[in-house]
Amino acid sequence: RIFDNADKASCQVALEIAELIREKQSKGENCVLGLATGSTPVNVYKELVRLHKEDGLSFKNVITFNLDEYFPIEPKELQSYVRFMHEYLFDHIDIPSDQINIPDGTLAKEEVYDFCQAYEEKIETSGGLDLQILGIGRTGHIGFNEPGSGEVSETRLITLDHMTVMDAASDFFGEENVPTKAITMGVGTIMKADRIILMAWGEGKAGIIKKALEGPVSDQIPATYLQKHPNAEFILDEGSSAEL
Ligand code: GLP
Repeated sequence: RIFDNADKASCQVALEIAELIREKQSKGENCVLGLATGSTPVNVYKELVRLHKEDGLSFKNVITFNLDEYFPIEPKELQSYVRFMHEYLFDHIDIPSDQINIPDGTLAKEEVYDFCQAYEEKIETSGGLDLQILGIGRTGHIGFNEPGSGEVSETRLITLDHMTVMDAASDFFGEENVPTKAITMGVGTIMKADRIILMAWGEGKAGIIKKALEGPVSDQIPATYLQKHPNAEFILDEGSSAEL
């Protein structure tokens, strides 16, 4: 779906998330959301906060699983996705803190494998992801599933692609400060979601969006796997859809 601009598109995505939360509430069920970071979803979160404050949208039945986190990183650090999520969403809504799940960047390396297995299990026992929100990196990554990520890959520690490190360099005040690794949900974890919405804004994403939507499905562009998902949508603006 192509919108005139990213603001309109973000409001629409927020509205659809709110509808899903309310539908689940009316059935007395939890709503399990997979959440993304980066600049792309910021206005979706702002609109969800507005719907909470002005429209009474409650998040008491919402369970969240974030896609990824740098490794290692402390939650208090500026670039931490824990900090990002609290700043843009969690600190402003009524979600119970024990229903928030974000990969832990503070683990010892030998604890990571068990943590990742437990993360997968927790998604399953929560009922599976009802909706996964995604952005896309210039390498075609979803979460931090860089080129080479397999279709059934699970939550794991990965090494960041050089292009991803360069893209994060300004956030970390220099390439040398960017962590070389991250914990990310796998492609397989994402593909198990009932519904997926990938968002992309601006001309800078036009090239990778064309490849992701129109190119052959390949582990070299992990976002192409979404072509095989029965209920995945790309929500784009004029800029990101310019090459389609
Ligand atoms: C990071 C995140 C991705 C995100 C990507 C794009 O790599 N791990 O989940 O999609 O950045 O970032 P932005 O939305 O700022 O373009």
